[in-house]
Amino acid sequence: MSLMVDDLSSHNLSSDALLRYRTEFPILQRTNYMISNSLGAMPRAVYDSLRAYADVWATRGVRAWEERWWMLALEVGNELGALMNAPENSVSLHQNVTTCQAVVASCFDVTSKRNKIVYSDMNFPSVMYFWEAQRPYGAQVHMVKTDDGITVPTERLLDAIDDHTLIVPVSHVIFRSSYINDAKAIIDKAHKVGAYVVLDTFQSLGTVPVDVQALTVDFACGGVLKWLCGGPGVAYLYVRPDLGKKLEPKLTGWFAHANSFEFATGPIRYAEPPFRFMNGTTHIPSIEAARPGIKIIREVGVDKIREKSKRQTARLIDIADHHGWRVNSPRDPEQRGGTVSIDMPDSQQVSRELLAREILVDWRPKAGVRFSPHFYNTDAEVEAALAAVAEILKSRAVTA
Ligand SMILES: Cc1ncc(COP(=O)(O)O)c(C=O)c1O
Repeated sequence: MSLMVDDLSSHNLSSDALLRYRTEFPILQRTNYMISNSLGAMPRAVYDSLRAYADVWATRGVRAWEERWWMLALEVGNELGALMNAPENSVSLHQNVTTCQAVVASCFDVTSKRNKIVYSDMNFPSVMYFWEAQRPYGAQVHMVKTDDGITVPTERLLDAIDDHTLIVPVSHVIFRSSYINDAKAIIDKAHKVGAYVVLDTFQSLGTVPVDVQALTVDFACGGVLKWLCGGPGVAYLYVRPDLGKKLEPKLTGWFAHANSFEFATGPIRYAEPPFRFMNGTTHIPSIEAARPGIKIIREVGVDKIREKSKRQTARLIDIADHHGWRVNSPRDPEQRGGTVSIDMPDSQQVSRELLAREILVDWRPKAGVRFSPHFYNTDAEVEAALAAVAEILKSRAVTA
């Protein structure tokens, strides 16, 4: 399978400086990797970081905690924080976004009068399931529905945020359609009525600029396995520093204690952030594996990634239009994240055939096939992916 390698050799590298990072990602040698919205390609350096992790464990044994592991979540939290302009020590690490929601929820009391949770049906299901499950504890959950399956009706969402609203958990970029929510408007309205926003930046951080300070967002969470090429197992939770000083998560544990090694009995005495928002023993191997991806994204720069992404996603839309396939992502590049969802005839079957041809994509109901070029993809790969779709549809028509 030399398609990708050949394409690269004929590609003018100077016209796309980001392609020099391709050699850092082994899977690009063998596949057309269009799936960074689901699982970013593994950086080669992960072999070294996991080897180093095993070496430390093998040679330093329990001393590894003191020498490296205890502070690792704080250090990597700060590296992630730099990507979203978070102040030092405002980002704690967790296993997934669902846990981040639970940590936030545990800081509040849904039995009080302010118990309304306002969210959009375009949120990622895990986030919906978590908040819906808080109803038995007293939460009044209000879901705002999409009109077109692509966008979130901002005005209706803003109207639903009222004096009883406690939390507004919303995605920055919608996983199904790649629509960029108007986070600033949502945050401003929430603050006006005394509510808090939990912004899920899973589908934005690493491909769309995120600045938590400019947004004045209260909480931001996401995971590293997609656009940050960090692999499964690491999610992050930013807490606005003034809130971070006073909130007391009830989902807590000994890592959140002001002096864990006191092993004090009775109620917890909280540490300062970020440890304050952690709980039990941290997930060291995943955090070690996440580091090379975060490092590369910081080096490449999200602004450059965004610029290229707008160009390649526009190209995907042009080609889809040319073939008359339905585009389930915004056409306005300012409203569109890194993915283009295309619903062609038999789209689920087409996605399976693309996988069989080493063109890696996924398929989602009400979306179609999701194509997500990242900074390491060539324009030729973008075109080859859709040329393969046309060929598959043509051969299916002939067979039928
Ligand atoms: C926007 C968004 N939020 C959350 C998740 C995942 O949630 P969790 O980390 O709880 O598995 C995804 C995708 O996996 C996502 O696209």
